[in-house]
Amino acid sequence: MESPARGVGAPAAVSSAPMVPELDEITTGRLRLWSAGPDDAFRLLRYHQDNWEHLRRWSPPVPDDYLTLGYWERRLAAERGAAEGGRAARWAISWHDDEVARVIGTIGLTDIVRGPVESATVGYGLAAREQGKGVMTEALAAVARHAFQPLALHQLFAGYLPVNEPSGRVLRRVGFQVVGYLRDHIFINGAWRDHVLAQLVEPTARPPA
Ligand SMILES: CC(C)(COP(=O)(O)OP(=O)(O)OC[C@H]1O[C@@H](n2cnc3c(N)ncnc32)[C@H](O)[C@@H]1OP(=O)(O)O)[C@@H](O)C(=O)NCCC(=O)NCCS
Repeated sequence: MESPARGVGAPAAVSSAPMVPELDEITTGRLRLWSAGPDDAFRLLRYHQDNWEHLRRWSPPVPDDYLTLGYWERRLAAERGAAEGGRAARWAISWHDDEVARVIGTIGLTDIVRGPVESATVGYGLAAREQGKGVMTEALAAVARHAFQPLALHQLFAGYLPVNEPSGRVLRRVGFQVVGYLRDHIFINGAWRDHVLAQLVEPTARPPA
């Protein structure tokens, strides 16, 4: 298995020994990945409003109030609870040098399972105008490193639609390998869709904590 850091440039710096490691901020050469809470609802709402036409094609069904402040306040509170419970970890992505921390994308680990598998599923999305600059390659590589240390997961899974070749290329650049093809697996953009399943395994093969 290739290293998750392959081809990625500047290494991630991760803050040390937190009480709740899932809430860590992650910095890379160009990016800041930060944990958004309910107070950040407007920034997340703005990002999703501005990019909904671009993102909806790849999104599962959303509630009617998805593009409202109330929805994002509730959702970010729920995500904070999931992070504190060790079930998920999500980050907003901003340019490192952006003083107002405008949200340009999101990335997260969900379905964190401990024990004999030590796994999580990774998902991400990026503002339309920020594509093609290596942002998600850099963010995903940093999150993979964070997942393996300090979160001590053993493996990450990601699924993408067969037509979403840009997402497949990001995953392969970070070291993910395609391990399966799931038929009618996920309801996205109004229909059950096939999904390509990719996996990244922690290279040292250490036993579960
Ligand atoms: C899929 C998606 C996340 C890709 O994000 P991205 O930041 O544009 O991806 P990257 O910039 O890292 O890679 C795209 C291209 O930029 C190039 N690139 C430019 N500068 C780069 C750099 N400094 N480092 C790495 N790659 C760079 C890459 O070579 C790559 O080209 P290629 O894949 O055509 O060979 C984005 O298009 C998106 O949000 N799509 C809609 C939502 C979505 O699909 N989510 C995932 C569902 S599975």
